[in-house]
Amino acid sequence: MTTTPVDLDIRIPTDNRAQALRADVRAGLTGSPKSLPPKWFYDAHGSDLFDAITELDEYYPTRTERQLIVEHADDIAALTGTATLIELGSGSSDKTRRLIDAMSTHRDDGSGLQHYAPLDVSPSALRGAVGRLRAEYPGLRVDGIVADFTGTLAPLPGPGPRTVAFLGGTIGNLEPTARKRFLTNVSAALEPGEHFLLGAGLVADETAMQRAYDDASGVTAAFNRNVLTVVNRELGADFDVDSYRHVAVWNADDEWIEMRLRATHDARVHIPGADLAVDVAADEEILTEISAKFRPDTLSAELAAVGLPVQQLWTDPADRFAIFLSSKRL
Ligand code: AVJ
Repeated sequence: MTTTPVDLDIRIPTDNRAQALRADVRAGLTGSPKSLPPKWFYDAHGSDLFDAITELDEYYPTRTERQLIVEHADDIAALTGTATLIELGSGSSDKTRRLIDAMSTHRDDGSGLQHYAPLDVSPSALRGAVGRLRAEYPGLRVDGIVADFTGTLAPLPGPGPRTVAFLGGTIGNLEPTARKRFLTNVSAALEPGEHFLLGAGLVADETAMQRAYDDASGVTAAFNRNVLTVVNRELGADFDVDSYRHVAVWNADDEWIEMRLRATHDARVHIPGADLAVDVAADEEILTEISAKFRPDTLSAELAAVGLPVQQLWTDPADRFAIFLSSKRL
């Protein structure tokens, strides 16, 4: 066990965090349908639950992506010549090791990876990841950045050439306008010739997709309900967490999975930290996450449209997941 304290570059000061949650809760729970943004799943417990999800039989994205990274890490290292790897929404950074290994041993001009900078909203997940990686890679500079990747990304740390990685399919959590804004920010933060490595879930067999978000052992249900626990703790709310059922549905028009929490009975919920009381009706649903799945051509076109044309695309044999490597246009 390492007990060295881990310093983080905190770009979300604690009060901004509370304020951001408050604003999101006010906007989301006064809207119709009610909603809460998925970034609030990830307190320490939610991050652990997500890690448990990634090990479920039903949840294929993580292991599919890991396999793609294992197979293609050397190509990615060679094509990018990365000196600094910035990983957005890095969580536990577990899949990143293979990439770090490949980038560290790849030497064009005598230099490989020098700096790994994971960026995540969850200080707890980040602290754990940074502590472990520093111990495992004594020669690598590892700096954790606490930030929300939907905000401005600049300034990105160096030295160049840099690669921004956004893995796991988290891009699917952004609705189309937020996705466009995000991709535009990524592009703006990179210099011409630098790279963006994107992992995204593909439109796949409907049953497989649905099961991935509604596992038999109920881990995803607990993860979903955890957002209410976070609101209770952070804003003093009185959600009766156990009276919400986990619902996961494939929205075929928008091509995304929706996770919702369905109230089992009428309730008035008080949220003092947001100066709010809301009525929830029996069977009313709160939308807590969209997880969009993509078609390679469409997402490639979106990338090209913001100045990030796709240089290489890798998919698994079942076409359920893809990794896109884009190079910032000169
Ligand atoms: C971490 C956002 C990629 O959308 O698949 C897992 C989160 N939600 N099970 C996803 C999640 C339900 C996950 N991402």
